Amino acid sequence: MKLKYFSHSSFQITTGAGIKILIDPFLDGNPTSPVKADDVEADYIVLTHAHSDHIGDAFSIAKRCGSTFICVNELAEYCKSKGFNAHNMHIGGSYNFEFGRIKFTIAHHGSMTPDNTYAGEPAGVLITIEGKTIYHTGDTGLFYDMKLIGELNQIDYMLLPIGDNFTMGISDALKAVEFVKPKTAIPMHYNTFPVIEADPVEFKEKAEAMNNDSKVMEYGEEIVL
Ligand code: NI
Ligand code: MN
Repeated sequence: MKLKYFSHSSFQITTGAGIKILIDPFLDGNPTSPVKADDVEADYIVLTHAHSDHIGDAFSIAKRCGSTFICVNELAEYCKSKGFNAHNMHIGGSYNFEFGRIKFTIAHHGSMTPDNTYAGEPAGVLITIEGKTIYHTGDTGLFYDMKLIGELNQIDYMLLPIGDNFTMGISDALKAVEFVKPKTAIPMHYNTFPVIEADPVEFKEKAEAMNNDSKVMEYGEEIVL
């Protein structure tokens, strides 16, 4: 399995069998993304919530690739109303897809589509593929139940926001890492806009000082998990 980072909260997983799963694709309107929407492929698109910096280019990519959306019920219904395929899920529920298992978690945030349609609760997502579990927290503030997520799951990679203002900043993100105890913590949702400027190296160094492995992924970098 491979994990590619486009910047902001946008990632792409490619399984050993070649199935491509995009998470929160925000590319064309994203000043930090080295890749444009027309350059990515997706069999599935996982959305944590419907804010424009997460739903981003999802519809143009899904239209071109015939992708299936995976998200909470209200947002899935919205995708269907626009003519797309979607698998409706909700927080606390998991499902075995052809590529692996997806489970949605809580996230403390909001969710509304760019055309102001209510999109249900925002979420985080646990993605288990080929024996490894990735926890993409979505946009969220720190919450104590992360401790439970860490107790119930062996998280290999935790993708978490550090940009502050809309989400956790660095100090709360470090506490989140302490709660979840992932093998590797990867910061996201920073430096896309001036209001979420943060230093990912500061996060990494402080996480490592707490004996947590951390990796700062470059924009466009792909790693083998
Ligand atoms: Ni958001
Ligand atoms: Mn966001």
